[in-house]
Amino acid sequence: MTPGTVIKEKIIAAYEAMAESYNALIDHKAHNAYYDRPNTLALIPEPEGKLILDAACGPGKYAEILMSSGATVTGFDISSRMVELAKERNKGKGDFFVHDLSQPFTKLADASFHIVVCALALHYVQDWTLTIKEFCRVLKPGGVLVISIEHPFFEFNYFRSKKYFEVEPVKCIWSGFGKPVEMNSYRRPLQQCIAPLTGNGFYVDQIIEPRPVEEFKKHDPKHFKELNAFPAFMCIRAIKRT
Ligand SMILES: C[S@@+](CC[C@H](N)C(=O)[O-])C[C@H]1O[C@@H](n2cnc3c(N)ncnc32)[C@H](O)[C@@H]1O
Repeated sequence: MTPGTVIKEKIIAAYEAMAESYNALIDHKAHNAYYDRPNTLALIPEPEGKLILDAACGPGKYAEILMSSGATVTGFDISSRMVELAKERNKGKGDFFVHDLSQPFTKLADASFHIVVCALALHYVQDWTLTIKEFCRVLKPGGVLVISIEHPFFEFNYFRSKKYFEVEPVKCIWSGFGKPVEMNSYRRPLQQCIAPLTGNGFYVDQIIEPRPVEEFKKHDPKHFKELNAFPAFMCIRAIKRT
């Protein structure tokens, strides 16, 4: 097995182990509900009547919100348990299947979506090139890609990196979703968050360095203060060039 395969297997194992508690907590988990989602959703155009791909959908919380606003959602995730939970949460609405972001999206036709959303997942992919090309292929001309990622400056500090310009494997322990799990991912410089978009069919329309919404404070005052001083995530809207 290559080092990349070993890391991917560890990521899958971590999410399979965490899936139930992730699903149970996701509605009100502060970093998701009151930091990532409000800022990422703010970049998504009016969902009503739109065909939306939720790439790395997890337990289908974004899909639930988007379908409640009148969108038709297709979602995939590398964790089969997450996909089951997405189906359960959405009670037969939407189409969910197991798929890896770093493999061609063979089930999905060219120009079949108005919007692609990929929240908090691209840091599990070492090389974004194929993934971004696939996002571009499945979007209609002028279609919108909205992603949220860990902020590159936050990660550089958090992982005490000494190699800013490299894409490097990193790991830490996650304790916020029940039993602690080792979480592996890839840290990258800012340029490697933007160049794969602009080099593979998109222009960058908007970037948000998010602030937590007020509700966050009630759930987690310490991180509310920290996130108002320095961002942990970054949300990007990119448009498919015509
Ligand atoms: C932090 S969760 C985010 C889930 C969802 N997007 C949300 O914001 O609620 C990250 C998700 O990415 C999935 N994931 C990790 N690596 C993946 C890959 N290579 N392909 C597809 N999904 C992946 C995990 O299984 C997990 O469900």
